[in-house]
Amino acid sequence: MSRYQRLYIYMLLGFAIWFLIFISQILYFSTFSTSDYCWFSSCKKKFSVSNISRQRHRIINSNEKSILARIHHQPLLQRYESYHVNFVRLTKPRTSPKKYLIYTCNQPCGGWGDRTRKIVGAYLLSLVLNRTFLINITWPCPITHLLEPNFINWNQTIKNLSKLKHTTIYNLSASDNDYREVVSWTDIDVIFFKVKDLAYYSLLLWRDDFYRVLHIHYGLHRSTLFIHTVFTLVYELLFKLKSHPQSHIDEISEKIHLRHLSCAHIRIGKNPTNPNDVVFPKRERMNTTVIEFLKNISKSNELMFISTDSEEIQSYARKQFRSRLLSIDGIIRHIDRSGKKLACDGLEKTILDFYMISRCHTMVMSKSAFSFWANTRRLKPYENLYIYCDGIKQIRGPGDYDRYPYGRC
Ligand SMILES: *[C@@H]1O[C@H](CO)[C@@H](O)[C@H](O)[C@H]1NC(C)=O
Ligand SMILES: *[C@@H]1O[C@H](CO)[C@@H](O)[C@H](O)[C@H]1NC(C)=O
Ligand SMILES: *[C@@H]1O[C@H](CO)[C@@H](O)[C@H](O)[C@H]1NC(C)=O
Ligand SMILES: *[C@@H]1O[C@H](CO)[C@@H](O)[C@H](O)[C@H]1NC(C)=O
Ligand SMILES: *[C@@H]1O[C@H](CO)[C@@H](O)[C@H](O)[C@H]1NC(C)=O
Ligand SMILES: *[C@@H]1O[C@H](CO)[C@@H](O)[C@H](O)[C@H]1NC(C)=O
Ligand SMILES: *[C@@H]1O[C@H](CO)[C@@H](O)[C@H](O)[C@H]1NC(C)=O
Ligand SMILES: *[C@@H]1O[C@H](CO)[C@@H](O)[C@H](O)[C@H]1NC(C)=O
Repeated sequence: MSRYQRLYIYMLLGFAIWFLIFISQILYFSTFSTSDYCWFSSCKKKFSVSNISRQRHRIINSNEKSILARIHHQPLLQRYESYHVNFVRLTKPRTSPKKYLIYTCNQPCGGWGDRTRKIVGAYLLSLVLNRTFLINITWPCPITHLLEPNFINWNQTIKNLSKLKHTTIYNLSASDNDYREVVSWTDIDVIFFKVKDLAYYSLLLWRDDFYRVLHIHYGLHRSTLFIHTVFTLVYELLFKLKSHPQSHIDEISEKIHLRHLSCAHIRIGKNPTNPNDVVFPKRERMNTTVIEFLKNISKSNELMFISTDSEEIQSYARKQFRSRLLSIDGIIRHIDRSGKKLACDGLEKTILDFYMISRCHTMVMSKSAFSFWANTRRLKPYENLYIYCDGIKQIRGPGDYDRYPYGRC
């Protein structure tokens, strides 16, 4: 055999292997929902006349139309229209009667970034379990004077709550044991959900029976379900600022108008403003470095916004930027690591800062959940994005970010 013949055979073999992998992928994914993965005209025709598709394209009533119209007018939700998400179902989930999952926080349960991430996970779990989702945050004080339901009524009251069969869940992982536990909750009416992390989250993605509900009934494909993609969708469906804090944000936003807004979240950890906070190593020079960086990259007429856990940094920024600095009045306190009274006073500013960051054109983050989740609510989250991680580094996409939060810099 000549060299060329051998080469030819190898190429043929290579192609055959590639083709086999390709076909098996198609077969694998098409087992989820044939109607969604119908690539051939013959089966398209079959499905287009079947009852499934008639349900899907059924004439939507005026209530549903108004929901879709409202969604279309919220820029952060609008971006999900191309994901084939079933908004109508998501806003009115199917639920079994008298079955609830209540995200509960009546003692320290994390900062705002950490909490909202857990709320998003809990909401998705409630969908899978066909339970009405409620939120009861009373630590450090109720959030209901700042936030109200946007599309999903998480503030209902349950009648005769004490008479219902209930349990409180503190720990939940993705193990087989915990999966079996979740499945066995069927006869419990109320789940008080106080789980401290998202260790169970992969159940939603990789347990076929769970994923099927999210995919088929709610149009949440696996690629949409990764937490950094789905976060803003669920957060916006759940929460809306009440009119008083909203008018505060609007007032400040008016000053931005068409000007460029550069922002930073400077979280330094334990400091005189937050004496009970944890000590973060390697953030000693973050205060001056981040502010100098913002000065370096901004033009003299651009606006600045600094969210920080230190009053010292706030006043330093005021000295550096003077009238260019936008600020939200209120006291600076970590909502989870201060006394209840002080933390409660700090809650409003914390939440307003979170909303303010969504208006930023340039953002310098800390390695913090608050930074990250506030940033994903920007219209273009990965544009002009930097992180302070032992110096300032640029981030160009979600994959890029994954290297920073828990790993080394
Ligand atoms: C479609 O639904 C109707 C009733 O709603 C039923 O009579 C019919 O058999 C269904 N057709 C198919 C193909 O399932
Ligand atoms: C939730 O509802 C779906 C659709 O009716 C059903 O397939 C699923 O088994 C239900 N799950 C639970 C935990 O009740
Ligand atoms: C829930 O929030 C809505 C919107 O703010 C409000 O109209 C309603 O009264 C609240 N329900 C309860 C039970 O607090
Ligand atoms: C919310 O929690 C508070 C305090 O833990 C409790 O008094 C209240 O009844 C709860 N509300 C609901 C609707 O569960
Ligand atoms: C609540 O309990 C009372 C007393 O047992 C009962 O009369 C009433 O019907 C219950 N309400 C609901 C909504 O179940
Ligand atoms: C939850 O897990 C922690 C350790 O991860 C353990 O100390 C605690 O007792 C567990 N709580 C419950 C209610 O199982
Ligand atoms: C920045 O932080 C360091 C210690 O971490 C402190 O010595 C210095 O005074 C701070 N600078 C400003 C301007 O706040
Ligand atoms: C700001 O610019 C100066 C001069 O170009 C440079 O020396 C300094 O390192 C820059 N600082 C930061 C934090 O980028």
